[in-house]
Amino acid sequence: MHHFNYVKGELYCEEVPVREVAEAVGTPFYLYSRRTLTHHFRVFDGAFASVPHLTCFAVKANSNIAILALFAAEGGGADIVSGGELFRALKAGVDPAKIVYSGVGKKVEEIDYALSEGILMFNIESFQELEVVNERAARLGKKAGIALRVNPDVDPETHPYISTGLKENKFGVDIDAAIEAYSRAARLKNLDIRGVSCHIGSQLTKLSPFLDALDRLKILLGRLEMEGIDIRYLDLGGGLGITYRDEEPPHPSRYAEAIVDAAQELPVTFVFEPGRVIVGNAGILVTKVLYTKQNEGKNFLIVDAGMNDLVRPSLYKAYHAIQPLTRRRRRTIVADVVGPICESGDYLAKEREVPDFQPGEMLAVMSAGAYGFTMASNYNSRPRVAEVMADGKEWFVIRRRETMNDLVRGEVVPRSLKKKKE
Ligand code: LLP
Repeated sequence: MHHFNYVKGELYCEEVPVREVAEAVGTPFYLYSRRTLTHHFRVFDGAFASVPHLTCFAVKANSNIAILALFAAEGGGADIVSGGELFRALKAGVDPAKIVYSGVGKKVEEIDYALSEGILMFNIESFQELEVVNERAARLGKKAGIALRVNPDVDPETHPYISTGLKENKFGVDIDAAIEAYSRAARLKNLDIRGVSCHIGSQLTKLSPFLDALDRLKILLGRLEMEGIDIRYLDLGGGLGITYRDEEPPHPSRYAEAIVDAAQELPVTFVFEPGRVIVGNAGILVTKVLYTKQNEGKNFLIVDAGMNDLVRPSLYKAYHAIQPLTRRRRRTIVADVVGPICESGDYLAKEREVPDFQPGEMLAVMSAGAYGFTMASNYNSRPRVAEVMADGKEWFVIRRRETMNDLVRGEVVPRSLKKKKE
């Protein structure tokens, strides 16, 4: 469920006409619905009410600190993959004791930062990382909470770019090598083994891969118990898919039911790292048609948002629905909706049946709340767009549009290159 609806032909986000925001902040911009964000968080988190658990929102999906603050206020933690994400989570008020740190390439400075803030656990992805985290913890006089991210080798049946739990992927430690890694960890004095973690991929639309992974993890937990290694947290990662078009992913309550059913006897606190399922359908990207044209009989709608603002269509051929801000009866055309970037891959929709939009008209690119703004870049020196949150009848800018000066911030022309005044 989300709160983007038409009222008398006008697209609203909650009780805010989207046009009103567009006229005030200009286009393009991301618009999120606070009610939808809260609802999605509560539905997910609430679905696990019968077992001890922690919902650690995957910051990579949407890292605006207003959004992180909202989840923190709901009792959520954070799943981070960098020092930058840790900084954001802390700034937003996330309790460090509810932060888990995944990622194959943690740098020493980032490890030190996380150690000094006292995060719940590092999800360790290699033997070498075990040693480095132990060594840094020793140096700082700390004990590092850790889980081993294991790679259960299951096929998540999703896009290859976002599948992570197969043997050939770079993520985690082979499940067959896990016992050896835990034994090693147990001998390292500055590590406190807390958990087992796994994340098999993103935008999963079936339950079976999750359950297959869980089966393998249960076997591992049994073996660890025999080895006398105490596991208190089982982190099952994120990955639950959403409907972009006609996908029918399991509802979070069904996902939770299946997991609780399969694992409720385990004496662990469950950790989840949902990203997309919480924020994906809680945000849209609003853009304006600049020009329309035909080349070789093909229709193009040229809009003011490009692949630097929303890269998912270009990168994954991802489908995002396109909807008008004002709905009225008119003919449709089949067109490519493209941005202003100097690349053929710069498109938001390909060969899509859309209303016969005219220059100056605005449209919404739907389901853009996850991996939208967070993957935005300044390519072609385009300032990154504003982010806005609607809240009932009100709305707030939660990130102002970048300025030209933001574009060159930090850049320096060496004195020898400065143009001399004659
Ligand atoms: N935990 C870990 C360790 C992850 O790597 C990810 C996502 C998540 C949690 C959250 O997964 P989610 O619940 O959002 O599926 N940019 C791609 C998605 C990349 C996902 C990377 N990892 C996209 O736009 O589809």
